[in-house]
Amino acid sequence: MSHLVAPSLLAADFANLASEVEMINDSEADWLHLDIMDGLFVPNISFGFPVMEAVRDLSSKPLDVHLMIVDPDRYLERFREAGASNLTVHFEACRNLHRTVTEIRRLGMKAGVTLNPHSPVILLKDILPYIDMVLLMTVNPGYGGQTFIPGSFNKIGELRSMIDEGGFDVMIEVDGGVDLHNAPMLVHAGVDVLVAGNTVFSSSDPAEVIRKLKQPV
Ligand code: DX5
Ligand code: ZN
Repeated sequence: MSHLVAPSLLAADFANLASEVEMINDSEADWLHLDIMDGLFVPNISFGFPVMEAVRDLSSKPLDVHLMIVDPDRYLERFREAGASNLTVHFEACRNLHRTVTEIRRLGMKAGVTLNPHSPVILLKDILPYIDMVLLMTVNPGYGGQTFIPGSFNKIGELRSMIDEGGFDVMIEVDGGVDLHNAPMLVHAGVDVLVAGNTVFSSSDPAEVIRKLKQPV
């Protein structure tokens, strides 16, 4: 299967959200990545349900929702109603992760688990049979436009081996500092889904950048 590309709306022009979502609709993007931040789990606040519902009504691409919030169990159903196809929670934010991912799947969404840069991939060993994807943070979560952490390549390799050796049907997604230079290396290392915010939206031709990110390696 060729890799997927999920532009992160966090870097879009929020004064022109409709045209930004239409650009994504008309592009080769596979998913639209939405970052939900609560100011507690991460030191920043992004946007919530009203914005997400407006995006849901405009978007023809599945919504890939990345929750950077404490105690996400409180809101799983609300995120489904707000249009999430994929719902990803942080390993570091869940006290009963198996319960959380089971509930996400029961609600009809793909379940993802995110790891911060400091969390080793071995932490995922016992949850891999119950999830659809792992989102590896390749920057510290909370802000767009940060520099990719190079040590992430080792984590991608370790996780790829764990998934392949276990025979799990789990996608690897990376998020943070993805650009046209590192994208082919990431795919080569075993990444299935590239999230890209600033690389896409700060370009004068975002659709062309998405097309380049989609290029087979
Ligand atoms: C950061 C978010 C990312 C962010 C990526 O916490 O999870 O999705 O939008 O932005 P770039 O691609 O600019 O690093
Ligand atoms: Zn994200």
